[in-house]
Amino acid sequence: MTLRRTKIVATLGPASSTAECIGALIDAGMNVARLNFSHGTANEHRERARLVREMAQAKGKHVALMGDLQGPKIRIARFSEGGVTLERGDNFRLSTSHPLDEGNQDVVGIDYPALVGDCRAGDELLLDDGRIVLRVDSVGRDEVRCTVTAGGYLSNHKGINRRGGGLSAAALTDKDRMDISLAAELEMEYVAVSFPRDAADMHLARKLLEDNASQAWLIAKIERAEAVADEAALDGLIEASDGVMVARGDLGVEIGDAELVGIQKLIISRARRQNKLVITATQMMESMINSPLPTRAEVSDVANAALDNTDAVMLSGESAAGKYPIEAVQAMARVCVGAEKHPTSTRSGHRLHQTFERFDETVALAAMYAANHLPGVAAVITLTESGYTPLIMSRIRSHLPIFALSPNTPTLGKVALFRGVQAIHFNPTDMPSTDVNQQAVNRLLELGYVMDGDWVILTKGDVYNSRGGTNSMKLLKVGERLV
Ligand code: G6P
Repeated sequence: MTLRRTKIVATLGPASSTAECIGALIDAGMNVARLNFSHGTANEHRERARLVREMAQAKGKHVALMGDLQGPKIRIARFSEGGVTLERGDNFRLSTSHPLDEGNQDVVGIDYPALVGDCRAGDELLLDDGRIVLRVDSVGRDEVRCTVTAGGYLSNHKGINRRGGGLSAAALTDKDRMDISLAAELEMEYVAVSFPRDAADMHLARKLLEDNASQAWLIAKIERAEAVADEAALDGLIEASDGVMVARGDLGVEIGDAELVGIQKLIISRARRQNKLVITATQMMESMINSPLPTRAEVSDVANAALDNTDAVMLSGESAAGKYPIEAVQAMARVCVGAEKHPTSTRSGHRLHQTFERFDETVALAAMYAANHLPGVAAVITLTESGYTPLIMSRIRSHLPIFALSPNTPTLGKVALFRGVQAIHFNPTDMPSTDVNQQAVNRLLELGYVMDGDWVILTKGDVYNSRGGTNSMKLLKVGERLV
């Protein structure tokens, strides 16, 4: 049985909110359902979350929920006529005092006063994901005066970035704080923070989650130029998070598309090296918003992220608002499985020359080296309370499936995002301790993942159902009587 290693995050939206569609997305391979708090009402998100839980349970699958905070995206206000066409060479002003509904050919309002303080003559402002470019000529008390250097149609609410980054907006807005409590209420497994500048933004988000009694893991979206300005900045942000997202939309605008691919590879490898998760996002199957088949370039993009060992690839508009949400998940699943056959993804030199810090980390890594290097091993089984042991295991490249066995539903949801890890419900305290190995292997046999004669490697601790205690690994032969 081929188990896909690279996981799929699919954004739910108007195109994918019925029970039927969500069920079909799960069948197609959605591992994580992303709810984008930039769009929709709290009640719409509640309903989608409820349907994901209901359909996953009906299908016996573990699917995580990820809430994606809107963050401080800086946007222009509105035009009287809905939009204007700007020509190269036109003068155009962004004003904090102009009425928010009355933008015109010369000026548009903006409700972010700090923009005036953040801009200098000579800066380049990128609107609508870089489709329109303005050069700052001068900065007044309440406005930024610009010349259009790349024109086009500019409509209401389009986003603003500065080339090179450096706009000072704080990462967590009042709306984000409300959405964090919504994520807590819906017991989401993951919360993604938009536009974090540094570790302090992530620490604040974590405190807000704790205040709301949420167990969610935090994903830092890497989308500001300053987050990748140097390795220390990137490492600091990774360190403060449980995982990161390569959010290629805004990141590409701020650092330029030429830098993007190299930075994507750097982020993936540094996250994995620091024992963190990584999601590759934005426009992966963009043409599938309108077409049932991806382009060759999109196939190549998804396959390359899988070959680089991303934990997950992500769909945004394709599944939220496109015509072919199910086909997009199917295409991603197919392309990932194809890429994973490539032999470079089956051997690892991960952390070979480092010392380890913890016993459980040591056992997890030792188990993976043994599994990778001993012929005949068909699977790795890890008993886990929090997901930590399978997380460490899945940082190592391998062609073997890792089965995370846990009695904890939130943990099983979380591991759904981990590369190469399959979630299985299993409670070792339901049985005599001398039976645990046998019953764990029996579960895999029942599910058809192993056969008599296979070797499996199993890790656990001396005490059941308590985190951090993993201290043993055992080689077990399927079909023999196990103790
Ligand atoms: C389960 C097992 C324990 C093991 C623990 C590791 O609870 O029963 O024997 O020590 O998982 O959990 P962790 O959260 O550290 O992966």
